Parts: sequence; C-alpha cells; structure tokens
Amino acid sequence: MLIEIANFPFPCFILDHNLIIQKASPSAINRFPAIQQPFFDIMDPGFYNDARAFFRSSISDGPIVLALNDKNMEKHYYRVYKSHGREGKILSYCIPITDTEAELNSGMAWRDRQTLDANLTSLHQKIDEMRALNIAREDTGKLAAGIAHEIRNPLTIVKGFLQLLRPELDELGKGKYASVAIEEINRANKIISEFLSVSKHTSNEKTNTSINQLVKEVILLYESECILKDISLGTSLAKGDFLYMLNASQIKQVLINILKNAMEALESVEHASRREITIFTKTENDAYVIGIQDSGCGIEPETISQLFSPFFSTKPNGNGLGLNICKKIIEEHGASVHVESKVGKGSLFSILFPISVPVCS
Ligand SMILES: Nc1ncnc2c1ncn2[C@@H]1O[C@H](COP(=O)(O)OP(=O)(O)OP(=O)(O)O)[C@@H](O)[C@H]1O
Ligand SMILES: [Mg+2]
Repeated sequence: MLIEIANFPFPCFILDHNLIIQKASPSAINRFPAIQQPFFDIMDPGFYNDARAFFRSSISDGPIVLALNDKNMEKHYYRVYKSHGREGKILSYCIPITDTEAELNSGMAWRDRQTLDANLTSLHQKIDEMRALNIAREDTGKLAAGIAHEIRNPLTIVKGFLQLLRPELDELGKGKYASVAIEEINRANKIISEFLSVSKHTSNEKTNTSINQLVKEVILLYESECILKDISLGTSLAKGDFLYMLNASQIKQVLINILKNAMEALESVEHASRREITIFTKTENDAYVIGIQDSGCGIEPETISQLFSPFFSTKPNGNGLGLNICKKIIEEHGASVHVESKVGKGSLFSILFPISVPVCS
C-alpha cells in the first residue's frame, strides 16, 4: 500500500539532505507554511545545536521524515517552534528514509507498509534505548545509596570523638563548637537516612504514614539545594496529622519528582525574589491534599494533557518519565493528581488522597 504525504493525518515534513523542507502534509502546512525553507527557520534557535547533533547522527545520506505529534506513536524527539508568529512546543519523530529519490519525487513518505513498519521498529528501538538509560540511572541511584551508606560510618566516628573530647572542650570554654559540630553531623545523618529510605527498593507494602512528616522529610533533603539555587522553599502544613495507608518511599519519590520539576521550572526566573516553591498540606472535599506550588515558567494549556505521557519532555536533557512514574504510583494508591498552571506565573501540582477509600469486595 502506498501512503502519500497528502493523506497523512498528522503533521509531517520531508526534508532533503540540506535540511530544506521539500514536502509537508496538509496539517503541517497549516501550522508551518514553510515549504522550501530551511527546517531550522521554524525551530527555536535554542535547540539548533541539539538538532544539528541529532541530524548528524540520524541521517547518513538522503532525506528524512519529520512526523510531528502522531497520537498513535509514542512521543519522541524534536521540538519545533514558531508557528504563525506564535510559539508552539511540539514533540516529533525524526525518521531517516531510504530510497528517497523515488519517494520525494512521488511525494510519498513511506513507500509501503513494510517500510513504515521498519521505521516504527527503529523508533521503538530508540524508545527501548531510552528505557535502558533510565535503568542505568537507577543503577547510579543504587551506587549513590551505597556511597551514602558508607559516609555514615566515618561521620559516626567523628561524632564519637567529638563527644569524647567534649569535657576538655568544655573546660576550655569551647564546648559550644562541639555542640554545633555534633548538631551538623546529626543533620547530615538524617539527610543520609532519608536518602537511603527513598532509594531503597521496597516492596509494595503500605503502612499508616503521617503525610505531614513525609513532606517534612522531603524538604529536609532539598532545603540546602534550594538555598544554593536562591529558591525560597516554604511550607504550610495543615494542623493536626493526617495518617494514610501508603508506601512512604514511593510517595516520597513522587514528591521529589514534582519538586525537582518545580526547581527546574524556576531556572528561567531571573529575579531570586520571584523564585518560590511552597509545599502545603490541607484537607479539602473529603481528601488529604499535598500541593506543590512554584512561581516558575508555567505550562501551556495545550501541553497540560500530555504531561503524564511517557517521554513527554520540553527539556533538552529530560527523559519525560518523571511525571509518568508519579501518576502510576499515585493511582496505585487510589489517589489522583491535578495540575493548574499559568504561563509565566507558575504551576500547582496537587495530589489528592481520598479520605474514605472505597472497600473492594
Ligand atoms: N512545575 C513545572 N513547571 C513547568 N513545566 C513543568 C513542570 N512540571 C513538569 N513540567 C513539564 O512537564 C514535562 C514532563 O515532566 P517530567 O518530569 O515527566 O519529565 P522531565 O522533567 O522533562 O524529565 P525527567 O524524566 O528527567 O523528569 C517537563 O518537560 C515540563 O515541560
Ligand atoms: Mg522531571
């Protein structure tokens, strides 16, 4: 079966070897009236280097197809911007095509089903590579956990010696230095314990956990990094304690992923006085709520529905897996996640734990 570019249901470009747009599907022309223009003309210059490297590695010779936003395929690769003077963030696929002269001349992106399938297979291979990368990241996490564990031993020794020296330091009127040092060692130990409890691979076991305490533990992990990045990290915890049956390590992972995104969203905020994150807890409409509010770049309304899809990322080095993992964990807990955002103002991610979980029969 021949598939003509004119019949493509999604935006798609065919570029020649010099990355000039040769053909485009109707929906691509609609959005980017850019035939015979260099593809780079419709890209955000911020992605030029990234794009050049990618094109170099993707095409040996011959044209490539850029298929944008096909709902049937998992999202992959490129961001194309600037459409009708408006900025648009679009993720795309870049698939080298072979036997291109004939295809270009006849205006066909893929000659037959077989070629299409082969291209899709290569796309899935790329997705698998990204998954493997994520597993590699997990291994690095385990290594970091090992190192953290090892740091605890020397810290314990230092603390022991400080306690041993304490009476003599007291006599010299220097006891307060020992107190400060011991306090700092205790703090470091607490951070390491928190880190280990998050990175530890736990079973799916849920225990009755204090939500406020969980939030405090996550803040302990990130408050120093926020100070370094000139971010004011505030909390507003509901009075009284909410207890909920949850897997503390998994929910911490969720809060960490959302908090990291918030910190990344603040990178583009120039004035330190405007870099704010607030984590709050409250009860609302029969649910315990944990909210993470940032004053960062915000999210375009048309993007919000894609945030939780695997591999959706607008960051040059993002994997686009953070929120996808969060959603899975949250739903496994019978909870839900909601996003409100205004471009240029900030975003609020709320996790709602229903107070009365329906009993399954
Ligand atoms: N607080 C936020 N403010 C603005 N955009 C956000 C925020 N949180 C998420 N996003 C958007 O959602 C996308 C997906 O987030 P997600 O955490 O899944 O992936 P990522 O951060 O890009 O990569 P990683 O897998 O390394 O976390 C981000 O690329 C970003 O565009
Ligand atoms: Mg992320």
